[in-house]
Amino acid sequence: MKRRFLSLIVVVLLLGIVLSGCKTATTTAKTVKIAVVGPLTGAQATFGEGNKNGALLAIEEWNAKGGPAGYKIEYVLGDSQCDPKAAADVAKKVVDEDKVQFIIGAVCSSETIPIVDYASTKKVVLMSGTSTSAKVTVDDSGNTKKYAFRACFIDPFQGKVMAGFALNNLKAKTAAVVLEVGNDYIIGLAEEFKKAFEAGGGKVVVYESFVKEDTDFSAILAKVKDANPDVFFVPTYYDKVSLIGAQAKQKGITSVLLGGDGWDSADLDTAAVEGGFFSNHYHPGDSRPIVVDWIKKYQAKYNKVPDALATGGYDAANLVLAAIDKAGSIDPDAVVTAIEGISYDAVSGKITFDAQHNPIKAAAVLKVQGGQVLYEATVNP
Ligand code: PHE
Repeated sequence: MKRRFLSLIVVVLLLGIVLSGCKTATTTAKTVKIAVVGPLTGAQATFGEGNKNGALLAIEEWNAKGGPAGYKIEYVLGDSQCDPKAAADVAKKVVDEDKVQFIIGAVCSSETIPIVDYASTKKVVLMSGTSTSAKVTVDDSGNTKKYAFRACFIDPFQGKVMAGFALNNLKAKTAAVVLEVGNDYIIGLAEEFKKAFEAGGGKVVVYESFVKEDTDFSAILAKVKDANPDVFFVPTYYDKVSLIGAQAKQKGITSVLLGGDGWDSADLDTAAVEGGFFSNHYHPGDSRPIVVDWIKKYQAKYNKVPDALATGGYDAANLVLAAIDKAGSIDPDAVVTAIEGISYDAVSGKITFDAQHNPIKAAAVLKVQGGQVLYEATVNP
């Protein structure tokens, strides 16, 4: 009887040791949860793929070196479809169900804006790699959104870059501009281009809008053909400019096509936009060692050259993870302070943030020629 009692005590003691061991193991494993969000399906799916590939590569690299400040990174993916409504649903899912503390993305400004506006209410910090609308980080009264950042330049700059390129490099005097109703990025970029082109002495002779569902642009293109402007600014995404460019060429329009970063895609119809120029965040021909290195490791993993979306996703994820590392914490307010004070050598350029949570960075102007996208110029802020 005494023996039995003793062995029971031993068993209880052993059990206690095992259980307390388990408890220590679970409380010391620090994790941080991140959502990588972008359009993984729909007409702009190449955007989401690049953004995701870039962000996941950064996460993998940080995990391999022990995680930022020792936090192991877990991630979930979100498909915001380049659509405000789908994006709002994704935001609720990743914040409330997946309980992420940070969001990398999204890509299209019209999806990123509703995501920021929901995530901010829960102090979830967001860093977009490539959403360029000014409204992503600033509210309608001009206040900076505390938990929203981006790793790229903004449309007021991009519009100025392309207007300046038209006026100075192409010696353009007249321009046609088209825009898509309801798309914050396209509207903002069209307005900024018009403003800068006119301020520089140019004249906008056609300014027309269409809706997302349109595929036949003949009515607008008839006006462009009549006006015969020097340049034709089409600040849409790659799928639309491929259609508009092809129809414009068919109509005999010879104005030089111009656009913004939304043209960047392996699915851009280069024949349709032959001879055109667009601004972008990076170009793979850049000889800086950090770019050469980036292309090498991206190619080794994904077997293709990274586009601006992949580069933006990589830079955005690295910025957040470096800020967590610097803060030594995943507390949202501490990480916000760390991002605000960071100076980071990103692939797309050196990044420090202004008061509106935007980096001040140069843009690359690229040219579509002979089916290829070539480097043309760098424009500094
Ligand atoms: N800047 C675009 C937007 O805000 C997204 C984009 C970035 C698309 C880079 C292509 C390349 O909607």
